[in-house]
Amino acid sequence: MLGRMRILTGIQPSGALHLGNYFGAMLPAIQLQDQGDAFYFIANYHSMTSLTDAGLRRRYSFDVALDFLACGLDPKRCVFWKQSDTPEHTELAWLLSTVTPMGLLERCHSYKDKVARLGAGDAGAVNHGLFAYPVLMAADILLYGANVVPVGKDQKQHLEVTRDIAIKFNQMYGEVFVVPEPRIREDVAVVPGLDGQKMSKSYGNTIEIFGEEKATRKKIMGIVMDSRGLAEPKPDAEKNLAIQLLRLVAPADVARDWEDRLRAGGLGYGDLKKALFEHYWTCFGPARARRAELATHPDYVHLVLREGAERARAIGRPMLDRAKAACGLD
Ligand code: ADP
Ligand code: TRP
Repeated sequence: MLGRMRILTGIQPSGALHLGNYFGAMLPAIQLQDQGDAFYFIANYHSMTSLTDAGLRRRYSFDVALDFLACGLDPKRCVFWKQSDTPEHTELAWLLSTVTPMGLLERCHSYKDKVARLGAGDAGAVNHGLFAYPVLMAADILLYGANVVPVGKDQKQHLEVTRDIAIKFNQMYGEVFVVPEPRIREDVAVVPGLDGQKMSKSYGNTIEIFGEEKATRKKIMGIVMDSRGLAEPKPDAEKNLAIQLLRLVAPADVARDWEDRLRAGGLGYGDLKKALFEHYWTCFGPARARRAELATHPDYVHLVLREGAERARAIGRPMLDRAKAACGLD
C-alpha cells in the first residue's frame, strides 16, 4: 500500500474482555499502533442495539478503556476515544443511509442471525438500530478516511457493506470517501474456551483477562479433561485444551515442555491446569498492576478519552463538512 496506513477499529463495550478478545483483537490492534496512524474507539453507540442498561454501558465503556490502556494501548501513539464524544458519526450515518439500498442491509448475516435468535414474533426486540448498524459502522470508518480496518471474520460482510456504500456515495455525489480495505485476521487462531468451543461471552466459557484470582483459578481447575489414566501416554497432547491455552500465556519453550511431559505420560491433569493458571496469572501480572493503578485515577482515563475525541474530531469534522457540501448541505 502506498502512503501511510490509516488504521481504524471499533470495540463494543459489552462486558469483561476475555482471552479470545485479547489474542484475537486487542493484541493485534496494539501491535498495529506503530504501523500507521491508528484510530481506536469504544463503540458505545453500537452497543445500544443490544444493551439497554445505561449504568452497565457507562461501566463497560470505562472498563474497556482501562483494559486497553492497561494492556499497552498508548494514547500518545494512537487516537483512542469514545464514539459518543464524536457525534459526527451519527450525522454522517444519515447521509449514508440515503444511499444504502434496503437489500444490502437485509442480506447481512449478523442482522439475520440476531432476528432469528430474538424470535421473529417478538417485533419489539428487533429494533431499527440493529438493522441500520452497518450504516453506522460505515460512517465510523469513512469519517476518518481509514484505509485499513482490522476486524474478526464475523465483521467481513459489514466491511463489504461499507465499501459498497462508499462507492455508491462517491458515484452519486463525487469522490469524497476513501474505499477501505478490510484486514481480516485470518492468521489469528480462534482461542478455545473452557469447554473447547470458541471462547465467547455468549457461550459462557470465558477466561477474563482481568478476572478475580480465586474465581479464575476455580474456572481453570474446573476444565473437564478426558478420562485417560495419569500414566498413559497422550500422543495427541497438542490438542489438549490446557496445552492450547498454555501456548498463548506461557513462553514457547515452557509450553512445549509441558506438552512433551503430557505426551510422555505421568503428568496429571490437575498439575497441568495448575501450571496453566500460574502462567495465565503471570502473563497478565504487569497489565493487572497497571490496570489497578489506572482504576484509582479515573479522571486521567476520562481525560485521555476526551483528548482522543478532540483529535478524532479534528479529522472527522472536515470530512463530514466535505460530505455535506457534496450533497448540497452547505
Ligand atoms: P464475544 O464472542 O465474546 O461476544 P466479540 O464478538 O465481542 O466477543 O469479540 C470482539 C472481537 O474479539 C471479535 O471481532 C474477534 O476478533 C475477537 N474474538 C472474540 N472471541 C475470540 C476468540 N475466541 N478467538 C479469537 N478472537 C476472538
Ligand atoms: N461491529 C464491530 C464489532 O462488533 C465493532 C465496530 C463498530 C467496528 N464500528 C466499527 C469495527 C468500525 C471496525 C470499524 O466487533
